[in-house]
Amino acid sequence: MTRHFLRDDDLSPAEQAEVLALAATLKRDRHAKQPFAGPQGVAIIFDKPTLRTQLSFSVGVAELGGHPMIVDGKLAQIGTRESIHDVAKVLGRQVSAIVWRTYGQDRLEEMAEHAGVPVVNALTDAFHPCQILADLLTVAEHKGSAAGRKVAYVGDAANNMAHSYLLGFATAGADITVAGPHGYGPDPAILERAKEIAATTCGGAHASEDAIEAVTGADVVITDTWVSMGMEDEASTRKGESNPFSAFSVTSELMAHAAPDAIVMHCLPAYRGFEIAADVIDGPASVVWDEAENRLHAQKALLTFLAEHA
Ligand code: NVA
Repeated sequence: MTRHFLRDDDLSPAEQAEVLALAATLKRDRHAKQPFAGPQGVAIIFDKPTLRTQLSFSVGVAELGGHPMIVDGKLAQIGTRESIHDVAKVLGRQVSAIVWRTYGQDRLEEMAEHAGVPVVNALTDAFHPCQILADLLTVAEHKGSAAGRKVAYVGDAANNMAHSYLLGFATAGADITVAGPHGYGPDPAILERAKEIAATTCGGAHASEDAIEAVTGADVVITDTWVSMGMEDEASTRKGESNPFSAFSVTSELMAHAAPDAIVMHCLPAYRGFEIAADVIDGPASVVWDEAENRLHAQKALLTFLAEHA
């Protein structure tokens, strides 16, 4: 049975822990595992902009002994020029894994249904699970483990990051709250699923409309852009003078409510003066460069896990 990583809860708590332990090993010894030696090709497809994801998957696949094949979504036109079904069949005959950044989660699910090789979510409108693995590795490095930690995500609590933090951090046994303004809260079904997972991991999963309440006593404070890729038309409402998010900006005033040794995370790209203040992201609590580096190690571990379970 081919394993995929389409959303955070595709890994059980034990499997997530296994991937994170392997990520730490691969960070210490970058050539410890070569599951794609041969080399085997891995298709890495982008329907949306990218920097970190293209770089970290390309370097990672090469370090695993494979050959990263970047596919420009604008050229491939998956789902318009050719059906997702047909693309999946063709790729599955040529590559050992498929990494895809696209819009609807349904597109990724269709690819996974027909490809016959592992499919990895490199960000959809609904989830960004690879980032969460990198973030969990980062929390483990700075705080020992995410289990039992109070974690607050503030900002657009309806976006892909919020959903992935709920599922991924609940899987890790953290107590995660996502806080956003009224009308910008998580999908109730995802919140419910996160609560279900948290009940099995001694974690917690909550939604809030109060940034201060969410951040109070938090060990980890996280934010993300208020304008996700694909929402560019809404930029003036989301970032304009009377935008709904201003009370959710991660400033030093908001950070004063967190635990004194709290760390701050942001998946990048960051917009200083909007979702995060410059003195916070560039200050001593920020671990954003560790997060960016850890994309490489976490994704190498994930691809190894999927290759070994294919
Ligand atoms: N929510 C952001 C995450 C970027 C890595 C977006 O989808 O654009």
